[in-house]
Amino acid sequence: MALDEDTYAELREIGARYPQARSGLLPMLHLVQSVEGKVTPEGIEACADVLGLSPAEVSGVATFYTMYKRRPVGDYLVGVCTNTLCAVMGGDAVFERLQQHLGVGNDETTEDGRITLEHIECNAACDYAPVMMVNWEFVDEVTPDSAVDLVEDLRQGAERTSTRGARLCTWRQAERVLAGFEDDRVDEGPSAGEASLAGLRLAQEHAWSAPGLQPPGADRAGRAELSGDGQAGSVRERGAEREGTPDDKHRAVREADTHRAESETVQEESDD
Ligand code: FES
Repeated sequence: MALDEDTYAELREIGARYPQARSGLLPMLHLVQSVEGKVTPEGIEACADVLGLSPAEVSGVATFYTMYKRRPVGDYLVGVCTNTLCAVMGGDAVFERLQQHLGVGNDETTEDGRITLEHIECNAACDYAPVMMVNWEFVDEVTPDSAVDLVEDLRQGAERTSTRGARLCTWRQAERVLAGFEDDRVDEGPSAGEASLAGLRLAQEHAWSAPGLQPPGADRAGRAELSGDGQAGSVRERGAEREGTPDDKHRAVREADTHRAESETVQEESDD
């Protein structure tokens, strides 16, 4: 069945956010999923219609990304990271336990339509391995028991929250947020966990920053601009202390880079 006029209006609204409307195709497909529960042929037609593309072009995008589903998804999409680090930290055991408990395999949905289970790749949350996602919200340091406990609560309709984010909503609601229509959960949760911020805190304590960038709060002479090994940075600091003009600072940075390159050459020669 064709999408209703309200959905068409929202698809057009998404396209209008961009200088070139076709840039809005990804969020438009999320909107289709929020309405249809998957990417349907009608949804593809609607996106193509609004953007002046062919259905084949839209379909080519929808079939490329794993976040776009061609089969109906349950109320909660539960993804267990089984990439290397999470796998060895217990992700494989979590996935196996959920498979047994729910009676479904990868990319399958429970008979009650509540949970879809899938393997996911690294979600850049390895500092909290093993990690599970529920509708793309993090569940950190999950265990087989805590995973079963969570999915059972969700099946019963109990309210649960991500370990560092918002209350868990349904997959369709989450898809609407991904389409760019905010709900009232945007400020919920700490968002970034302590382990993820540890490196940032360390950099702030030592006033470290990436080469070419000043650390937050650094003085205008660019002091304490350290590179990863600290050696080049110490040259930069000396240069900045010696002289303060922009040209002097650039010269100090060049000196530092030359010094580092020479050190690396010497190291390579000694390795040979
Ligand atoms: S390996 Fe699982 S989040 Fe990186």
